[in-house]
Amino acid sequence: MDLEVLISEAEIQRRVRELAAEISRDYAQADELILVGVLKGAFIFLADLSRCLTIPRSIEFMAVSSYDNGDQESSAVRLVMDLRKNIEGKHVLVVEDIVDTGRTLNFLGELLAARKPESVKTCALVRKPDRARVETEIDYLGFEIPDAWVVGYGLDYDEQNRTLPYIASINPAS
Ligand code: PRP
Repeated sequence: MDLEVLISEAEIQRRVRELAAEISRDYAQADELILVGVLKGAFIFLADLSRCLTIPRSIEFMAVSSYDNGDQESSAVRLVMDLRKNIEGKHVLVVEDIVDTGRTLNFLGELLAARKPESVKTCALVRKPDRARVETEIDYLGFEIPDAWVVGYGLDYDEQNRTLPYIASINPAS
């Protein structure tokens, strides 16, 4: 399959450092920031981002699954794996590799907000604005990308290419 690099390793690493610096500044007064990675795709971004932060932080994970019933417009998100930690009164940052329709991030934002944290914000490495189906607030965004199938840096095609150090578009038909 043909791969075309969209965001190089150097560009990703530079942007991750910028986002980490911004987040570190914004939470400089917080006792702790709980980073919630959304499995599986966010694991590499979360690993790099968390190691660049200069504030007290802890790592948690959640997993969700999407059902589209063959119909993109009515797809729904279901929780598959929950947090192990009570987030009441804590600062929470949801970390995603990609925001596509926006449904996953909205679902998680509402779910976590109901648990009475001190704050819930969102961070995503990439977003496809052309694919948005619901309005989504992304507090920290790495890059906007075109509506192509993308792999690398956590993103997969049929579980392949997740560990590439860059993000590339892929043409599954080629
Ligand atoms: C991807 C990504 C987000 C979600 C975004 O996960 O990691 O969680 O899709 O899509 P949305 O904005 O349309 O809701 P995916 O379902 O591919 O699972 P994976 O992370 O395990 O690969």
